[in-house]
Amino acid sequence: MTTFPCFRETTLPRTSIDLPVSVDRDASVPLTVQLGNRLRAAMRDGTLKSGERLPSTRALARQLAVSRTVVTEAYQQLYAEGWLDGRHGSGTYVADVVVHTPSPPLASAGPAASAGPAASAGPAASAGPAVSTWPSGAAGAARSGAVPPDFPAGNGAAPAGPVIDLRPGRPWVNDYDRAAWRRAWRAAADLPPGDDPDPYGLPRLREALAEHLRKTRAVAVGPENIMVTRGTGNGLDLVAATLLRPGDRAGVEDPGYRVAGNVFAARGAEIVPCPVDRDGVVVEELPGDLRVLYTTPAHQYPLGGRLPIPRRERLLAWARRTGAIVVEDDYDAEFRYDVAPLPALHCLDPGRVVLLGTLSKSLAPDVGVGWLVAAPDLLAAVARTRHDLADRTGGPAQQAVAVLLERGDLDRHLRRMRLEYARRRAAVVDVLGPLVSGDTAGLHVMIEVPPAAVPFVVARAAERGVLVDWTESPRRSDRPRGHGLVLGYGSASLTEVRRGTTVIAELVAAWRDGEGRKGETREEPGRTGETRGERTGEDGRRQAPAGKGARR
Ligand SMILES: Cc1ncc(COP(=O)(O)O)c(C=O)c1O
Repeated sequence: MTTFPCFRETTLPRTSIDLPVSVDRDASVPLTVQLGNRLRAAMRDGTLKSGERLPSTRALARQLAVSRTVVTEAYQQLYAEGWLDGRHGSGTYVADVVVHTPSPPLASAGPAASAGPAASAGPAASAGPAVSTWPSGAAGAARSGAVPPDFPAGNGAAPAGPVIDLRPGRPWVNDYDRAAWRRAWRAAADLPPGDDPDPYGLPRLREALAEHLRKTRAVAVGPENIMVTRGTGNGLDLVAATLLRPGDRAGVEDPGYRVAGNVFAARGAEIVPCPVDRDGVVVEELPGDLRVLYTTPAHQYPLGGRLPIPRRERLLAWARRTGAIVVEDDYDAEFRYDVAPLPALHCLDPGRVVLLGTLSKSLAPDVGVGWLVAAPDLLAAVARTRHDLADRTGGPAQQAVAVLLERGDLDRHLRRMRLEYARRRAAVVDVLGPLVSGDTAGLHVMIEVPPAAVPFVVARAAERGVLVDWTESPRRSDRPRGHGLVLGYGSASLTEVRRGTTVIAELVAAWRDGEGRKGETREEPGRTGETRGERTGEDGRRQAPAGKGARR
């Protein structure tokens, strides 16, 4: 039996089945594709049930009179999509695949179905979105510093079963190398605690990070350019405390990572929402009076685009012309599943760009370690701020991370997780198809739906135990913008991802079918339909369907 990577321990029953499939040797469709399609159909319609054991590749190849490679490749594809599961040496099984259940009767739709968000809080309301569209102007900035988790709400019904959390932002923390983890922390515990923490961080870790950044992000800096932070939020705050004075204007991507604006606003800055489209921040729309601009060029959060090289150059020309400092949030650049990431923006102009990195996605937010890379004079200013604020990163955590980096444990973890996240992303695309936009990267996808569908889908999904995020609340937006759902596949298992996205697909379909749009114009779904065509971006890449920013 061929084995596949990332096998998880399962307790699947060992039921054997006779596979009801055949292939047509004369058809133009390759045999592997035919076999994959037949098996998928059998799993969808329930002919093949969860936990059933598939024949060995050898036996099925013999039964179908095809080469074993045909069967192996078909199994591998289905495994990658999450349809199959297995254990080393013990066979291949139908995973706990979703059986498509009909949507609940639409007549029972709660207030969200027709009139947008209702007042009572559903399960998703407790956490609130990490994605925001910023109200414009100073008043908006003040408001947006403390946006309440006020949305969505359904009819208040609690989910019947377990909750599937597809909100973005969290990685998978269940599969890590426990021996490596213990080794790292033992090594940290062997050292005495320090009495005078260096605001730059431990030299040993800064050395290791310099090597890590060189390998993973083509950033050629020495330890003298690196400060160890507690993560992106901490790095943002140190930059803000160093550079921003009350009333300074700070640009944040819109839509974007709400924390960035929160941090800048807490330091007294006026938040300036800067439009993004499917490629990232729109340079031509940047005002000339920003002190700092926060941006996510490797993988725009949440739309998922990668800032093309020409636009990077225009962005840096803008920064040089206006004197702004660009803050580059490189939060998940380690996770690309198609092509290598572009080198960090920082490499193009180290004097203008502060690079922020974090282990929050690549390892776990709980580790509380990240980094800030800047030119030496700016870094020295940040270090002074840090000293003045008595801010620091814990020494033992730094020691442990240094060990993980030096021994290659983090690299191995990243390689493993890349495969796992790629499988989960493939499962999302398999279920939601052309609704998915954004690059083949990261731990989240953007699902394009018309604005009016968002409260319906979010609230009804919550009632069915599926939590998702969204790009904005229409109530908080004073400008018409594209709109969508943001689904994270970092902290849910492959089976949960498949199950949760199926619920979302059903709800989007239900909304499209009309019931969710009572009182809405019929125009919106057509606009979504328009976005399905591919286009070519500034760097010549073929691109996913249009992002919401482009529809503005
Ligand atoms: C855009 C973005 N940046 C950074 C982070 C991580 O921040 P931190 O390192 O503070 O945990 C996240 C986590 O969700 C994020 O979504």
